Amino acid sequence: MKKARIIGTGSYLPAKIVTNADLEKIVDTSDEWIFTRTGIRERRMAAEGEFTSDLASRAAERALQMAGVGAADLDAVIVGTITGDFPWPATACLVQHQLGAKNAFAFDVSAACSGFVYALDAGVRQIQSGAAKRILVIGAEVFTRAVDWQDRNTCVLFGDGAGAVVLEAQEGDHGVLSTHLHTDGSYWDLLYQAGFGSRHPASIEGINARLPYLKMQGNEVFKVAVRSLHEVAVEALEANGFTAADLDLFIPHQANRRILEATAKRLGLTDEQVFMNVHKYGNTSGASIPIALDEANRSGRIKEGDLLLLDAFGGGFTWGSALVRW
Ligand code: ACO
Repeated sequence: MKKARIIGTGSYLPAKIVTNADLEKIVDTSDEWIFTRTGIRERRMAAEGEFTSDLASRAAERALQMAGVGAADLDAVIVGTITGDFPWPATACLVQHQLGAKNAFAFDVSAACSGFVYALDAGVRQIQSGAAKRILVIGAEVFTRAVDWQDRNTCVLFGDGAGAVVLEAQEGDHGVLSTHLHTDGSYWDLLYQAGFGSRHPASIEGINARLPYLKMQGNEVFKVAVRSLHEVAVEALEANGFTAADLDLFIPHQANRRILEATAKRLGLTDEQVFMNVHKYGNTSGASIPIALDEANRSGRIKEGDLLLLDAFGGGFTWGSALVRW
């Protein structure tokens, strides 16, 4: 069976930087509170007229360029997002059009902050089955338009961005070694957006009740996130006969520094093994892992043959991992 190898990475962060000091002017908060609780110093915000599909397409172009692959050579475009341009059609359709990927089918994956790992799993399985040779997998979010700017508990946490990888079917030992996905829908209401869908269709009353914005019970999310990120990381390592000491780089979802540090500590990882950029971008949900992967790749932190573990957790709850031989 052929492996899905990552042959290009790309990312795009909007130019506008919103610092914690900027947020102090919007809600009752402080740089000290935000940094101590989350490790976040600043985040990016999409410009007016800039949409999720735009961020996704810019990241994709960079990944395609690194891979040396033309858009017309893609068999599929898969986008992990929960803040797409529209409820439907899928943002992946808009990206397919923007890129001119005319031979690719395209669809979105909705798995919140696990969206990229879920989308990666879908791409890997398309390749392993022989149905596709080259697939673009993207994580893209404009979360600053899904948070309630009157709710200091949540609006300080999130940011906008996109990251992408190009997968190619290859013989040999390099590529995605395994993916593991999990869901526990009993936690759906600890982290969700109530409106507007079939349960709460669009209404003025719904807007006044702040339904179109993210709702979260942060403390509960924190506990389950650390436990699940740890469990699915161990599951991936054991399934492939490795231990945490074998990892060259651990790239967890960049939710906040305390979640990352607690997970890394449970796994017994050193600081050098863990990639962290949450201080610069906040939580970019489904985009955080491919952005981190691209930064690590372009900065020379990843070498051929390295063992990487991508580890995600998000609303649903959903969680999952991908073990990669670079
Ligand atoms: N500025 C100042 N004070 C604030 C702010 C803020 N931005 N937000 C909340 N507070 C206040 C609260 O009102 C509360 O005040 P009170 O005691 O007077 O009621 C106090 O700070 C403590 O609030 P807690 O919620 O207990 O704070 P906690 O230490 O748990 O930190 C946090 C909150 C950062 C959200 C934490 O629970 C967390 O990291 N949870 C994980 C959530 C997460 O990362 N979600 C992202 C999506 S899921 C994912 O990506 C994995």
